[in-house]
Amino acid sequence: MLILGIETSCDETAASVVMDGKKILSNVIATQTEWHKKFGGIVPEIASRKHIELINPVIREALNKAKIDLDNLSGIAVTFGPGLVGSLLVGIETAKAISYAKRLPLLAINHLEGHIYAVGLKKDIEFPAVSLIVSGGHTELVYIENYGNYELLGRTRDDAAGEAFDKISVMLNLGYPGGPIIDRLSKKGNKKALNLPLAKMKKGQFDFSFSGLKTAVINYLKKGTEIPIPDLVASFQEAVVKSLVEKTIKAARVKHVKYIILCGGVAANSRLREKMQEEAEKREMKVYFPHKILCTDNAAMIAGLGYLKLKNKELANYTLNACPNLKLG
Ligand code: KG4
Ligand code: ZN
Repeated sequence: MLILGIETSCDETAASVVMDGKKILSNVIATQTEWHKKFGGIVPEIASRKHIELINPVIREALNKAKIDLDNLSGIAVTFGPGLVGSLLVGIETAKAISYAKRLPLLAINHLEGHIYAVGLKKDIEFPAVSLIVSGGHTELVYIENYGNYELLGRTRDDAAGEAFDKISVMLNLGYPGGPIIDRLSKKGNKKALNLPLAKMKKGQFDFSFSGLKTAVINYLKKGTEIPIPDLVASFQEAVVKSLVEKTIKAARVKHVKYIILCGGVAANSRLREKMQEEAEKREMKVYFPHKILCTDNAAMIAGLGYLKLKNKELANYTLNACPNLKLG
């Protein structure tokens, strides 16, 4: 079965064709970074307008690369939330139009569930598991019984982890998006140069907070103390990673699970991957990571999950609307 996936929840216009939920025949991602970076973050109005310009050429390219046309498809999967409402609507209305014109089943996908499925695209995941979904818009810790069965354990109370990377990077004039830049620079820095404070949560609490950490970096810079930038960002990254890894491992222990799924854009971070792996191995837990290209937003994860929804006959109809605050569970 061939599913066309469409993803426009944030600032990537993406389309992909996936066969039987596993085999990626095409994975086209048009990034809008160029238009947003001078603002140091995503401008929702620009994102919606760019999606409108890019959506048709991106879909056409995804079909061409997969060497198929719309008549070969078994279904259309589209992200309907969470995300920016104007951006989501472009993908949803496009998917509905194709579904109606070609009489194809419409499959509505939760973006966060898509990120989790990005790991399952390459190999079968074992459940039950705890998943850390970390991106520019999300930091959520979720218990997963199996696909479709989720319990939210904790989330960020302020900035998402990726957002903290992006803001620190812009503040230091390093560029946007900050995650990959800080990841690269940190390799040359001393991660123990600064001991930055982390928010303390009540016992048994799995929520995160990164705004205090961001303020600590700002205050440190205001003092005018000289510190090499690689040392500063490596210390910042280490503090974020420590908080993410400690809570994920703790959640896995509390829920008595052996499997951890790390996903979302920040899952591409090399230090986060390394530390999560190290700490999990000590406790005989197994960590699943997506392939790096499948960490950040893409439509292959949407098409892949669409196959499962189609198999389970979970079909959407033409009243489908954008759900900017859609949750898991
Ligand atoms: O999943 P994604 O493409 O979009 C959202 O759904 O938000 O994630 C983008 C986020 C950005 O904040 C970016 O800085 C971060 O992922 N990111 C990273 C790395 N690569 C991307 N953060 C840390 N280290 C990386 N290597
Ligand atoms: Zn995402």
